[in-house]
Amino acid sequence: MEITTRSFVLSLAGIGIMVMMMMTSSAEATMPAVFVLGDSTVDVGTNNFLTGSVDRADFPHNGIDFPGSKATGRFSNGYNIADFLAKQLGLEMSPPPFFSLGNGTAPLNNSSFKGVNFASGGSGILDTTGLSPDGVKMVVPLSEQVQQLGSISSRLASFKGAETAADYLATSVFIISIGSNDMFHYDHDNSSSSSSSTKEQFISQVTATYQKHLRTMLGFGVRKIGIISTGPVGCCPSQRRFNQTSGCLEPLNELAVSFNAKVKTMMAHLSSEFDGMQYSIGDTYSMTMNLIKSPASYGFKNINTACCGLGKLNADFFCTPDANVCTNRDEMLFWDMFHPSQAASKLAASDLYNGGQPFVTPINFKQLAAAF
Ligand SMILES: *[C@@H]1O[C@H](CO)[C@@H](O)[C@H](O)[C@H]1NC(C)=O
Ligand SMILES: *[C@@H]1O[C@H](CO)[C@@H](O)[C@H](O)[C@H]1NC(C)=O
Ligand SMILES: *[C@@H]1O[C@H](CO)[C@@H](O)[C@H](O)[C@H]1NC(C)=O
Ligand SMILES: *[C@@H]1O[C@H](CO)[C@@H](O)[C@H](O)[C@H]1NC(C)=O
Ligand SMILES: *[C@@H]1O[C@H](CO)[C@@H](O)[C@H](O)[C@H]1NC(C)=O
Repeated sequence: MEITTRSFVLSLAGIGIMVMMMMTSSAEATMPAVFVLGDSTVDVGTNNFLTGSVDRADFPHNGIDFPGSKATGRFSNGYNIADFLAKQLGLEMSPPPFFSLGNGTAPLNNSSFKGVNFASGGSGILDTTGLSPDGVKMVVPLSEQVQQLGSISSRLASFKGAETAADYLATSVFIISIGSNDMFHYDHDNSSSSSSSTKEQFISQVTATYQKHLRTMLGFGVRKIGIISTGPVGCCPSQRRFNQTSGCLEPLNELAVSFNAKVKTMMAHLSSEFDGMQYSIGDTYSMTMNLIKSPASYGFKNINTACCGLGKLNADFFCTPDANVCTNRDEMLFWDMFHPSQAASKLAASDLYNGGQPFVTPINFKQLAAAF
């Protein structure tokens, strides 16, 4: 009798502990969904839907290390940083592309709905980035990704009610990784001497446009924003091949540094203006530079060559079925001439989620998900 009562009390305590663990150890308790916006660093197949786009990766050797060796459209040998972050946040991988959800017409009350990925390879903050001269739709620029989010937001409101939908968006995590292509395009335009703006004017223009799009998102009720900063774009094999010593292209890296500094100021400013806004900035620039300086301490052996490609640094040509592909993929920083390997993406996601200052500020992605 006494024993029965005791074990009843004990099991009640057990349930109490389990409930507490569920509430505190899992980000899911406060985070209903994950949304991803950006470029090829986080694209999971958006561009497969753009007939005629050449900015795609839905063919081998891409995906060689993905389950089933499937080329999904990810610019990686396996998963990308959006997948690893989503995994840290309790999902299996990145949420699916907007276009795969019937362009947002699929039922959002589906219990397996855990968010949307809008990211498009080759896209930028500026609408002119990734624009094809002959009018073929190559990319979905950030402005359009934000519009697509707007359509999701209205549909959520129509079946959940405005208040519940707003709460849903406010507690969801928004991951944004964009800006590299704007830097590449500026640098390219400058060297072909068609540039009409100075570096400072350009950075200001890109930051102002970024801010405009973030304001639209905040207007939808978005409150938790995780920014993945622009990495050392001058250190991509595609840029190193222009340097006789195969070193990083310094002017391009300097452009990224200036842009990242502006974004930091902009985010601090926005968060003081929007009630309840929480944000995290992952400084992938410094993280990658550290890895480049001492690869061995992170388990990497090669930081300047593309695993998949052809020619100098395996970076004269894109990763196509005809390209060379390395076997030691987990020791390579770069998968192709522009994109990090799965191993590098996994390491970066882990640092963004669990890391601290100065690499991820003012809070890390784990704290961002658990905020409120
Ligand atoms: C969604 O949009 C893409 C790209 O514009 C298009 O190819 C596709 O046909 C659309 N799908 C639906 C279901 O509307
Ligand atoms: C989802 O909403 C549609 C109406 O928009 C409804 O017909 C359907 O039963 C709902 N499904 C679930 C699982 O709630
Ligand atoms: C719900 O979503 C899952 C995964 O995206 C899909 O397989 C399933 O068909 C969807 N169910 C409905 C009712 O749309
Ligand atoms: C681009 O050109 C402008 C002048 O047209 C110059 O001031 C600026 O330094 C150049 N930027 C780079 C990265 O070469
Ligand atoms: C090329 O790389 C070297 C380091 O190997 C660096 O000192 C130099 O500034 C780089 N050149 C340019 C144009 O960035």
